[in-house]
Amino acid sequence: MLKRRVLVVEPNGTMQAWIRAEGERAGLMLEAVDSHETAGIRLREDAPWHYVVSSDRDNARDKARDAAREKTEREAAPVSGACEDEPRYVPLALERCSPREKKLRLRLLFKGMQRHDSEARLERWGDAEFPLPAVRRQRELLRALRPAFREFAEKEETLHGHSYRVGFYAARIGESLTMSPRVVRLLFVGGWIHDLGKLRVDTRILTKRESLNEQEWKSIRQHPVWGEEIVEDHTDDRELLDMVRFHHERFDGRGYPDNLARESIPIAARILAVADAYDAMTSERTYCAKLSHREAVREVLSCTGSQFDPAIVRGFLNSRLDRALP
Ligand SMILES: [Fe+2]
Repeated sequence: MLKRRVLVVEPNGTMQAWIRAEGERAGLMLEAVDSHETAGIRLREDAPWHYVVSSDRDNARDKARDAAREKTEREAAPVSGACEDEPRYVPLALERCSPREKKLRLRLLFKGMQRHDSEARLERWGDAEFPLPAVRRQRELLRALRPAFREFAEKEETLHGHSYRVGFYAARIGESLTMSPRVVRLLFVGGWIHDLGKLRVDTRILTKRESLNEQEWKSIRQHPVWGEEIVEDHTDDRELLDMVRFHHERFDGRGYPDNLARESIPIAARILAVADAYDAMTSERTYCAKLSHREAVREVLSCTGSQFDPAIVRGFLNSRLDRALP
């Protein structure tokens, strides 16, 4: 996975440590430097930087331009290969902010950068072979669902990261099953939106450490249906709606909400089920310890034929995934 590389100019040592930890949480390669001079040196290096965050836009930009020009003259190559000609500049007026406010604004910014990464990935999957009106419809759908995603991130911080990782894993499985770029792209979008129904589940239930009572389970089991209702307001794309509704169905028919079994579960939903379970196992959870990649793969294998479709598990194993995303 190509991580966004972010350079933050921040003179305060304590803030620098916080920024590094926060960047790791957001899944960014983040470096905090104490001055624009140091930033200029880092920008001269080979690996591309995607963002430069600074409270002094002009100064940072000048330094970066100098670095880019020098590098171009030296090697006849742009400063950044994987992004645009120059990193994107993010000027912030943080000098007068309290440390608390500063952290809040930086946290929001990092989340936005992670989203940008998701959108960039969406570009990668199959645009060239995908009918333009459909691409446009998906973009409109995601745009329309932005307020729901924001609400989602505020409700339970981990849900946003979970959604995007599930989309990523599902698309990887789709690629390994040699599905068309159209379906691979759809899997990514489906992963992104599959859990939106949790917006209607009480946060207390979502974050509860103790085991759930029957009433609480009922609410959890309802989230695929609620998700379908939320997404249905914005699209009539049956493939996407089915992914949302059926991602908790099991191959043996003991899933929810409709107890579908085997091939009656749409294939994209069977893929999401594997991606979803793998991510749940390899992420921090309130109710259970996080598993390593190998342990999670072993778990997926032990549920083959019962919870998961063996053909999809084969695709998952062949996807050459060797570690979970951060
Ligand atoms: Fe779910």
